[in-house]
Amino acid sequence: MPRLLVLNSSGRTTRSITRRLTKQYTEGWLAAHPDGVLCERDLTLHLSTPVNEAWIASAFAPAEERSPAMEAVLAESETLLAEIEAADALVLGVPMYNFGVPAQLKAYFDQIIRAGRSFQFDPDAEPPYQPLLADKPVTIIVSVWDGDLLPGGPMAELNFLEPHLLTMLGFIGLHSVDFVRVGYEEYQDGRLKKALGLAETEVARRAVAV
Ligand SMILES: Cc1cc2nc3c(=O)[nH]c(=O)nc-3n(C[C@H](O)[C@H](O)[C@H](O)COP(=O)(O)O)c2cc1C
Repeated sequence: MPRLLVLNSSGRTTRSITRRLTKQYTEGWLAAHPDGVLCERDLTLHLSTPVNEAWIASAFAPAEERSPAMEAVLAESETLLAEIEAADALVLGVPMYNFGVPAQLKAYFDQIIRAGRSFQFDPDAEPPYQPLLADKPVTIIVSVWDGDLLPGGPMAELNFLEPHLLTMLGFIGLHSVDFVRVGYEEYQDGRLKKALGLAETEVARRAVAV
């Protein structure tokens, strides 16, 4: 049974472009995979816990020396990582907030990027960092209000969202990443309509193919 993990991070629960497109993806995927199993995680309605003293102490303690209390602190991270490991493909809905990813998505990544669990650190190895997760297709649906921030645009150097996501995902082993982009949300003109039409076509294609 194929499994799809869908992550939404828009602060909007209505009028959200990324949520609309992840929903379209999900519906297309389920139609193409009647026996498919869906795992949906809403990172806005269910916030990931920001890492704190207890989390860091637990994550960096050698696994064989962790107390039951430390294991309990890492349970959330384990659950999130198990969802990724069980999935055959991932879909992320990601609005650009202040040139980067929403805080709720960053908190999620802080939970899943863990030494000894999703990446290995060995100062004597070359390279010292090795990803530990198996690669799988990741579709990232991005929406911005100013399309000039998208790759190839005149303000693309201010787009920290895409390189940051590629770095975080690649660091743990997820290299097969494709973006579906919508620009000009704020403008509500023909440019938005065109971008949405292209995104919908691409989402329909990928939902069946991936
Ligand atoms: C807090 C906040 C910060 C934003 N920062 C940016 C930004 O830096 N650049 C940009 O082009 N759009 C920015 N936007 C606009 C959103 O990226 C845009 O509205 C997008 O469509 C939101 O995704 P959604 O429709 O799925 O909610 C921001 C929106 C919010 C609410």
